[in-house]
Amino acid sequence: MRSLIVTGGAGFIGANFVHYWSNRYPEDRIVVLDALTYAGNQASLESVQDRPNFRFVHGNILDRTLIAKLMREESTDTIVHFAAESHVDRSIHEPDAFIQTNVIGTHNLLMAARELWLDSDDAPATHRFHHVSTDEVYGSLGVDDPAFTEQTPYAPNSPYAASKASSDHLVRAYHHTYGLEVTTSNCSNNYGPYQFPEKLIPLMIVNALTGQPLPVYGDGSNIRDWLYVEDHCRGIDLVIGKGKLGATYNIGGNNERRNIDIVRQVCAGLDRIFAENEKLSDRFPDAPAASGRKTESLITFVKDRPGHDWRYAIDATLATEELGYAPRQSFETGIRLTLNWMLENEHWWRAVMDGSYREWISKNYSDNA
Ligand code: NAD
Ligand code: DAU
Repeated sequence: MRSLIVTGGAGFIGANFVHYWSNRYPEDRIVVLDALTYAGNQASLESVQDRPNFRFVHGNILDRTLIAKLMREESTDTIVHFAAESHVDRSIHEPDAFIQTNVIGTHNLLMAARELWLDSDDAPATHRFHHVSTDEVYGSLGVDDPAFTEQTPYAPNSPYAASKASSDHLVRAYHHTYGLEVTTSNCSNNYGPYQFPEKLIPLMIVNALTGQPLPVYGDGSNIRDWLYVEDHCRGIDLVIGKGKLGATYNIGGNNERRNIDIVRQVCAGLDRIFAENEKLSDRFPDAPAASGRKTESLITFVKDRPGHDWRYAIDATLATEELGYAPRQSFETGIRLTLNWMLENEHWWRAVMDGSYREWISKNYSDNA
């Protein structure tokens, strides 16, 4: 039985990971440590909140005393580190929070882990620090460039990517210098349930349902590799279970698409679902599909993101060959699951967007930090 601290477990991927892990390893103890920034949402953990071996702690990874206290109280042997400022556009406007959380916060966790796991008499027999990182550390690819491998030199281009690259280097250094038992995964663009509607796919879905423009940066030709979030969680599970200590593994969807094609596919999916279900027109009267118009009519090309990376692509051969990793969802099945989830969970995205989930949480649960 493991005792995990999941940092950032109220965010998009962290919450999906908590659901995944508590179903797969129900006997494990899971403590979520999350500062509940604008991107953190305790309502995303509603289905696990009452489990006896689950605990939510409202706290910041910048608070090293709190991290050490929790690790002692919980006899933590595994940290899965998701907590981060994660949105590239925000990092362009306000980089400071990215340096604080992504660099200093990660270093705080590493220092606490070193103290409790390497320098303490009652350290657990084995431990693991798994660091969740991104393909953006490798920079941008040209059209004919080979996909990123674990050997691709780091070339981060945004303050977000630079802060993540920095945290990756710190994790590596704590293994090399002190022998901390670490693994790192670098993953491509995720999509799926509980994603904050500032990222491309949920933003397009919410805007389409509410009849607002669908802002496509530049000419929409930038390319990303898209992965359904549960496949990312499964990849992390494999790295934690079978990965070599000190190693990094790329995790991807083998699914490169242009942004404009992603947006068109979201639009076509909504048109189809509205045609199949008449009730949706009553629920979302502002959606073009409610009045027989094409959702695509909302697409609006807008000013490009400064320093916009052109293409990301992941070569996940190492994870496939060493760990048996392979995504289970195609983009077609994953996007349908995502559209259906958004339609079935309107209360969730409306509440996260207007912040009212905070009231809901304070009514339903007390903060047990
Ligand atoms: P997110 O923005 O949805 O969630 C981040 C979570 O971290 C939130 O719950 C937030 O409250 C919490 N948090 C932020 N600062 C904190 C702090 N100082 N202390 C404690 N908690 C804090 O992010 P996400 O999309 O779920 O990404 C999770 C991780 O995965 C990040 O490290 C990100 O770099 C990485 N990643 C994301 C993607 C993607 O496509 N979203 C792809 C690859 C890697
Ligand atoms: O590659 C992994 C990364 O993917 C993660 O590390 C980041 O945390 C995650 O946010 C994501 O970064 P991107 O910048 O690729 O994701 P985003 O959803 O912001 O944008 C995806 C693409 O769509 C990108 O080329 C910019 C474009 N875009 C985005 C938004 C929000 C638009 O054209 N319009 C938009 O409104």
